[in-house]
Amino acid sequence: MPPLRQIILSTLLLTISLVPAKARDAETLSEARGKNGMVVSVSPPASEAGLAILKAGGNAVDAAIAVEFALAVTWPEAGNIGGGGFMMVHPVGGREVFCIDYRETAPGSATETMFTPKDGRHTHKIVGVPGTVKGMARAHAKFGKLEWKQLVVPAVKLAADGFVIDDALASSLNSVLESIITKEGGHHQELIRVYGKIPQKGAEKTKWKAGDRLVLPDLAKTLQRIADRGAEGFYQGETAELLVAEMQRGDGLITVEDLANYKAKARRAVHGKFRGYDVYGAPPPSSGGVCLVEMLNVLERFDLRKYDRYSTRNIHIIAETMKRVFCDRAQFLGDQDFVKTPKRLTRKNYARKLAEDIDERFATPSETLAPHVEVMSESPSTTHFSVIDGDGLAVSNTTTLEASWGARIVVKGAGFVLNNEMGDFNWYPDHTDRSGKIGTKANRIAPGKRMLSSQTPTIIAYKGHPALVTGSPGGRTIINTTLQMVLNVLEFEMDLPEAMRAARIHHQWLPDKITYETFADQITPETIAELEAKGHVLSARKKSSTQGDAHSIAIDLDTGEYHGVADWRRNGKALGY
Ligand code: DON
Repeated sequence: MPPLRQIILSTLLLTISLVPAKARDAETLSEARGKNGMVVSVSPPASEAGLAILKAGGNAVDAAIAVEFALAVTWPEAGNIGGGGFMMVHPVGGREVFCIDYRETAPGSATETMFTPKDGRHTHKIVGVPGTVKGMARAHAKFGKLEWKQLVVPAVKLAADGFVIDDALASSLNSVLESIITKEGGHHQELIRVYGKIPQKGAEKTKWKAGDRLVLPDLAKTLQRIADRGAEGFYQGETAELLVAEMQRGDGLITVEDLANYKAKARRAVHGKFRGYDVYGAPPPSSGGVCLVEMLNVLERFDLRKYDRYSTRNIHIIAETMKRVFCDRAQFLGDQDFVKTPKRLTRKNYARKLAEDIDERFATPSETLAPHVEVMSESPSTTHFSVIDGDGLAVSNTTTLEASWGARIVVKGAGFVLNNEMGDFNWYPDHTDRSGKIGTKANRIAPGKRMLSSQTPTIIAYKGHPALVTGSPGGRTIINTTLQMVLNVLEFEMDLPEAMRAARIHHQWLPDKITYETFADQITPETIAELEAKGHVLSARKKSSTQGDAHSIAIDLDTGEYHGVADWRRNGKALGY
């Protein structure tokens, strides 16, 4: 990035950051600078937990583990011990970049046809075997420096003593409670008991507000068992028994054996090259890394920077690229332990063919790319955080319960929320229809298999040094949000705050439409009209409905300074020193 441009922008941003903090406002980003360490996450107490670990001499992986456990307390709609995710680790020197895959698995008794069109999304049956605790233990065994217990205890304390909630958490709590109380009930009583403002009677009448204190005593005990016994404190003994008992209260499949058999895996990252930078992404069972690299390989053939960021031409090319890559995703990607990932997808010569297929004048109708397949719809929530330490060890971590508050089931007596990740599998074999179902083979259910993910924790490096740590929540929009963060910084040479403020678009092949953010009117009515004339269908997001939440860190390769920026779209906090 040209230094002068950076200086002007940083000066401008210093001025901007003096404006009093207000949630969900592009003008009031949380930013931090430092050379010794940086943590950026959706939740201020979780960022604080990570920073404290860095200051206590922990490395970035130690801090990331502390953030992950803290998020299970302070951002329960997505932070979790009952879900899973992907942690990218770029070791100092960057010779081998790893992904700790802690994606959930299908239980041993799961079958390809276990779901029917009548099945809901908030059931016991939809819960995958959680991976988070073994994932953190695996990361710790491979990279950790401090004692395990020291990394979990901050979360125990947050849960036991309680913490002050912000607007974002208050509104998340209110919305899940309202929805359960008015529409669901039944299996969700424990969530109401644990997270309702006044437990049991009267919960439905009491709304959470910023400044209230949330105390989670059952979760504190569960976390204490993890602090004391490591992964065994979750996958065996009391917590495992409580989880299995919860399964038996509904139609859940997870057994003691499923928990004992779960394995987190250290996989080699997907690697690509873009504008001289190394791009490292999460491998299958996430589609994130493959899709990101495939998209960048196509886009590097179009010299986007010669045109305005929001020009009709660039939006057209980017959307056409997304469309083609998402079409490949639906056809070919699944858990790599079960289906082979076609090597060509990340190769430059394959991208050249895709690029040649893009018509600069017209939109290609999605259905002509692969007429027989369509895709399912997804909803929030997931969360992404980024960490780097003073030595340059970088961590990019995305974690999820799938939907916001997962299956909306809290394990009775254990205080944690269960995922509904089985919904990321293709539910009905061979059933592919226009309403959004996909039945292709690669991502069908099988015992022990991991469901395909879109999580795209990403590390961009230059000559072995991390340059950008990024990623996002948002279902399939994750891949496109991350793509645009990378393009904004590497292709359009924006600094991180500007990249964060840039409106995002999304195309996922089917439905055949571009959705776009409207909060700052960066994409003009003229551009929309020109895109429509090319044959695109466009769908504006409401000003309040934004795409993703890309808590990121940029590293100045000349000075070594870290610049953490929390995405404003769901609040968040950057902390560094
Ligand atoms: O792993 C996946 O791709 C999805 N379960 C992620 C869901 C999600 O990001 C919802 N977020 N806001």
